[in-house]
Amino acid sequence: MHISVEPSILYFGTPVILLSTCNEDGTANLAPMSSAWWLGWNCMLGLGAKGHTAQNLLREKECVLNLPSASLVEHVNRLARLTGSDPIPPHKVAMGYRHEKNKFAVAGLTAVPGELVAPSRVVECPVQLEAVLEAVHPFGTRPDKPTTALAFEVRIIRAHIDPSILMEGRENHVSPDKWRPLLMSFCQFYGLGERLTHSTLAEIPEDAYRPVAHMQREGA
Ligand SMILES: Cc1cc2nc3c(=O)[nH]c(=O)nc-3n(C[C@H](O)[C@H](O)[C@H](O)COP(=O)(O)O)c2cc1C
Repeated sequence: MHISVEPSILYFGTPVILLSTCNEDGTANLAPMSSAWWLGWNCMLGLGAKGHTAQNLLREKECVLNLPSASLVEHVNRLARLTGSDPIPPHKVAMGYRHEKNKFAVAGLTAVPGELVAPSRVVECPVQLEAVLEAVHPFGTRPDKPTTALAFEVRIIRAHIDPSILMEGRENHVSPDKWRPLLMSFCQFYGLGERLTHSTLAEIPEDAYRPVAHMQREGA
């Protein structure tokens, strides 16, 4: 018998992303986040509305979604409870956050420039997705309450993939058997187990989902 309960959070499990954005002075910010989902080459990113990354994204309209593999968990953990905001907002002070300007150095990660966008890619991440902002949606709004979260709809304009996670002989296909993403569930880190069974959905060729024109930003 199920029972009715009220968990504080409903973070059932999603991949971790290291989201890189540009600060106002042109330096790089790097934020771990995991409220994200994809449809085709678009992705929805859920972020605190007043956070440093959200403000960077609203202003610069570009980011890179760097997806760490499970083996990078210690690097990701070093970024937890760090913020690019200075001063630190009171609710983050209460949660033990500290300001950090150079998050790449603290995490022991290497920045390289994006090819089509200004924010940095994380060399160690096997998946690096350069993206531009398409739309911003208020999220979780309630009457008489200020909006505290935003859903950022971004479009991927270039995907960099480590060949070691590609299917043998098929350069445009990531192998889910080789790709070992880092996942977050209820604020704890996990990896993936083995494939469970034959997938009926996977009988549809992946190319059936390819968007017609997704790669290029207008004029890029
Ligand atoms: C693994 C992980 C996942 C997180 N997921 C999110 C998320 O989905 N959305 C969000 O707003 N914050 C998330 N956070 C908290 C942010 O990292 C935190 O707000 C941080 O201050 C963001 O950096 P910034 O302040 O420099 O923007 C997550 C933190 C960790 C460690």
